[in-house]
Amino acid sequence: MIKRPGVLLTILLVLALAVIVIYKLQTDPYNNSASNDQRNSMTEEPGSIYTIYQDNCLTCHGNNGEAQPGFPSLQKTTLSLEEIKKIIITGRGDMPPFPNITEPQLSQLAELVKRFSN
Ligand code: HEC
Repeated sequence: MIKRPGVLLTILLVLALAVIVIYKLQTDPYNNSASNDQRNSMTEEPGSIYTIYQDNCLTCHGNNGEAQPGFPSLQKTTLSLEEIKKIIITGRGDMPPFPNITEPQLSQLAELVKRFSN
C-alpha cells in the first residue's frame, strides 16, 4: 500500500464518489417531495388563497389563469398588483366586482394572479 500510493488514492476517490452518490439519492427524493408539498399547499390546502381563487375566479379564468373560452387569460396580464387588486374590488366590463374579498386575501390573490403570468 505504502509503495503504491495510487491504489490508496483510487480507493479514497471511489469512497468519495460513493458518498456523493448516496447523498444525492437521499436528498433528491426529499427535494422532490418538498416541492410537491409546496405545490399541494398552493392547490389543495383548505383556506389557502388558491381556495379563494377556486371559489371566485376559476369558473371564468381557469385552473391556472389560462382562461375558460370567452374570458381573458390571467397568464398574459401585464397589470401591476395594485391594478389587479382594483379590478378584483370594482370589477371591469363583464367581470363582476368582489367587494367581499378584503386584505390580506386581496393582496395574496393579486400575487397569485401575478404568479400565473410568470
Ligand atoms: C364571471 C366571470 C369572471 C369571474 C368570476 C372573474 N373574472 Fe376576472 N375577468 C373577467 C372578464 C370578462 C375580464 C375582462 C374585463 C374587461 O372587459 O376588461 C376579467 C379581467 C380580469 C383581470 C384583468 C386581466 C388583464 O390583464 O386585463 C384580472 C386580473 C382578473 N379578471 C382577475 C380575477 C380574479 C382574481 C377573480 C376572482 C376574484 C376574477 N377575475 C373573477 C371575468 C371574470
